[in-house]
Amino acid sequence: MRFDNNNNKLNLIIKHAKSYGFIYNSCEIYNGIKSIYDYGPNGLVMKNNIKKFWWDYMVRYRQNIVGIDTSILMEKKVWIASGHIKKFKEYYIEIDNKIYKIKEFINLILKNKKIKRKYLNLLNNNKNKIYKLLKIIKKKKLFNNIKVKKVNLMFRTKINPFNSKIYTYLRPETAQGIFINLKNIINSTKLTLPFGIAQIGKSFRNEIVTKEFIFRTKEFEQMEMQFFITPGEEKKWYKYWIDNRLNWHFFFNLGKKNYKLNNHKELSHYTTYATDIEFKYLNKYKELEGIHFRKDYDLKQHIKYSKKKLIFFNPKTNKKILPYIIETSLGVDRLFYSIFCKSIKFEKTRTYLKFPRFISPIKIAILPLIRNNINIIKLSKKIFKNLIYDFNIIYDEKKSIGKRYHYYDAIGTPFCVTIDKLSLIDKTVTIRNRDNMKQIRYKINLLKNYFKKKFNIYTFFKKSIKY
Ligand code: GAP
Repeated sequence: MRFDNNNNKLNLIIKHAKSYGFIYNSCEIYNGIKSIYDYGPNGLVMKNNIKKFWWDYMVRYRQNIVGIDTSILMEKKVWIASGHIKKFKEYYIEIDNKIYKIKEFINLILKNKKIKRKYLNLLNNNKNKIYKLLKIIKKKKLFNNIKVKKVNLMFRTKINPFNSKIYTYLRPETAQGIFINLKNIINSTKLTLPFGIAQIGKSFRNEIVTKEFIFRTKEFEQMEMQFFITPGEEKKWYKYWIDNRLNWHFFFNLGKKNYKLNNHKELSHYTTYATDIEFKYLNKYKELEGIHFRKDYDLKQHIKYSKKKLIFFNPKTNKKILPYIIETSLGVDRLFYSIFCKSIKFEKTRTYLKFPRFISPIKIAILPLIRNNINIIKLSKKIFKNLIYDFNIIYDEKKSIGKRYHYYDAIGTPFCVTIDKLSLIDKTVTIRNRDNMKQIRYKINLLKNYFKKKFNIYTFFKKSIKY
């Protein structure tokens, strides 16, 4: 199917995600809440598959990376030390009571020939230049009622219900939970440099004007890993993690040309340098994952504000050092969206999700061809029982076989197993492939092995992680 514009495709993606139990707008019965979403039964399983694939690659199969799970609510001092209270801010422009994001504002102003492009380019690279631009705009009297608004993106919340002065913030990144637990972790494990600490969890940012479905939301999940290294080794490890992360993304098979590396010009307050892995979602490359060199910024800040010591030894010289940190940070929801954008296929007779097999929520559907043959039903249930503990599968005898194929294609199920009269005689079934709709006959007693091979992703891990 060809699309006149990306909004058409986006609308179809949103509709499909809702109709097939992947993603719903939050609080829909109360007309919804902007930029917050819920995951339905299929969306949840798919999200868990994504998280498992990240966790296996980053933690489970590595000897020098451990995982933790820290609280969303932390002492306010954490956010003072981390710099988020002072610096985690976004600029918006208000014109006649309407709020514009900087990019929207640039588009608006671009239409106006009186503003030279060079001023706008300034803004692209450094948002602080907005004040300079505003002066020019005011001088030229382009808008009567124009203001810059600088807002902190963190959600503030009371921590003591009886005292409004005791408040904190919902975490805007999972990373800080790792830094403030570093002492506990090194004291309770056998880790020595270089090592990593990983975490998957919810983060919250009060993002304004968010349009592109789950690309940017107020509540989202991050998969972050902080890698602690000996100072001086940052170049080597930075390259290592960019290569590793990019190769991990390639395994989703969404087309290598859809990924691009982008060295950040505008840096967040805690980074020394940063590279984004960008992805072409609909028609534009946008950030998917960030690899950040945070140096010793966070540790220094927490040592300063907590007044606690952090003693590390360089394993080669045995002298005291403060490690540097390289962070990999990926949004689960954004990755989910990237997979959805590229996997949805519109054909004349069907719309289906060509998900990578290991991500599909349901791996195999067991479908008796006819309902009113007790022997077919019995055999189907026997096959189901034999596979259920090895794969996430479903047994379904409702509706015509055509409608069932249609449904399982639409939720991205890679294989349908159909049991018919011939199965009773020759102990074979039909395996139907989602992508090309081809069917083969296969021996029932060899099914488990057949699927084990189809869903084996460990060859990937073996190739990409060196011990
Ligand atoms: N700890 C570093 C950090 O949080 P970031 O570049 O602000 O860095 C990292 O965010 C990743 O988190 C992004 O690349 C993106 O995948 C995801 N992310 C950030 N803000 C998001 C939002 N509002 N909605 C969905 N995902 C978001």
